[in-house]
Amino acid sequence: MAKRRTQFICQSCGAVHARWSGRCDACGGWNTIVEEDTGAAAGGALGGPQAKAAKGRKVPLVGLEGETLETRRLVTGIGEFDRVTGGGLVPGSAVLVGGDPGIGKSTLLIQAAGSVARKGGRVVYVSGEEAVGQVRLRAQRLGLSGAPVQLAAETNVDDIVATLSEGAAPDLVIIDSIQTLWTAMAESAPGTVTQVRASAQTLIRFAKNSGAAIILVGHVTKDGQIAGPRVVEHMVDAVLSFEGDRTHLFRILRGLKNRFGPTDEIGVFEMGGEGLRGVPNPSELFLGERSGATPGAAVFAGVEGTRPLLVEIQALVAPSPLGTPRRAVVGWDSNRLSMVLAVLEAHCGLRFGGHDVYLAVSGGMRLVEPAADLAVAAALVSSLAQAPLAHDDVFFGEIGLSGAVRAVPHAALRLKEAARLGFSRAHIAGGQPDCEDAPLTLTRIDRLDELAGAIVASGVVREHSPNAEDVV
Ligand code: TYD
Ligand code: MG
Repeated sequence: MAKRRTQFICQSCGAVHARWSGRCDACGGWNTIVEEDTGAAAGGALGGPQAKAAKGRKVPLVGLEGETLETRRLVTGIGEFDRVTGGGLVPGSAVLVGGDPGIGKSTLLIQAAGSVARKGGRVVYVSGEEAVGQVRLRAQRLGLSGAPVQLAAETNVDDIVATLSEGAAPDLVIIDSIQTLWTAMAESAPGTVTQVRASAQTLIRFAKNSGAAIILVGHVTKDGQIAGPRVVEHMVDAVLSFEGDRTHLFRILRGLKNRFGPTDEIGVFEMGGEGLRGVPNPSELFLGERSGATPGAAVFAGVEGTRPLLVEIQALVAPSPLGTPRRAVVGWDSNRLSMVLAVLEAHCGLRFGGHDVYLAVSGGMRLVEPAADLAVAAALVSSLAQAPLAHDDVFFGEIGLSGAVRAVPHAALRLKEAARLGFSRAHIAGGQPDCEDAPLTLTRIDRLDELAGAIVASGVVREHSPNAEDVV
């Protein structure tokens, strides 16, 4: 009997191992390695001995000048979606939309499909997860039942490509989701890395040949059983992540990779009874939940891509009964919090050692800018000192390990938005350029202890238990 060709493949990162082990050396994931039967795929789709032996064909070499596809982007008409893709989908490109289950990927994409179809484009929506009836029901709820979207419930990639190849090439194809697809080219089970990779490859090849823009939905699961979209990320032209806190109504579409546009752009949506609605002025939405002047709340004037975004940062610093006090962060990097706390302790004479520290960004927003440091520090000191910050103050600036406050990009944009929303004072780095003719009062800070001192002076630093302090 012929020996079966099997490989041990990490379902999280796609690394191939010689033997099974509990932990993947490449990505560090536990229990992610699965034995896969790669029989036909090894020689066919994924390149094997036969592929190597074939004689090469000469390919024409061309210059950088010439016709590009850029000029005729497919605008979906959903403003926030088009913003993240860099002004619409490029024909022949493949976009991966990832996100947690239930976050609203299918809702967003059926809305995009309906919008393009209504404008006269040929749109095919293939669902591998839901029956046609379920997709129809959702579309009806979203008021899209009249849109001429072509639906199918199918999981075999070869059948899907055969269907799509018939007649005029579609303008937009949506595949929901890539994990449900399988192809006879690979012998392992649907959802495994080999299948996901082979299916994605087939669809991307179809997109390139036909000029159809293709959107693949990818699930992100924590248990590693189903292949994460990681392996597909390298193959597609753009990766968008749909995220948000399911307990909030806001959803954020974030560009993680984009060969045809900027990657730092975000689209903000609100989930409602009629599906997802774009939010053109997200600052108003994120600040809408503010409640009076309470200690521990500071407003950060941020920038996401080309758009200013004001969010409230909330800190709670409370005496801890634990030997090792808790540090919990929602919407920000916990290492960055540790750094800001260390700088406050080392350079500003404040003690957080005996306190639990909780930090949250309002509205379920996730911040990645280092410019948020100063607002985080202000919120922490304000909570520790029980000194509320002025209601109309905003903060932005990066904090260095030496305690220096550093300038950040896009100051003018941040200040303009803050002034528009009624803020009257901005605390910024001493050397911050780009803020002449600022429409509000500027307080320049060279070192963090100046800000910390001013906040503490307006409140009372609480007593902290000395024995807990010794521990950390
Ligand atoms: P869905 O698009 O199915 O998520 P995904 O494809 O990412 O798994 O969205 C699921 C959630 O969205 C579900 O919990 C219900 C909610 N929802 C609304 O609140 N309003 C709506 O109009 C729709 C269609 C869904
Ligand atoms: Mg779905």
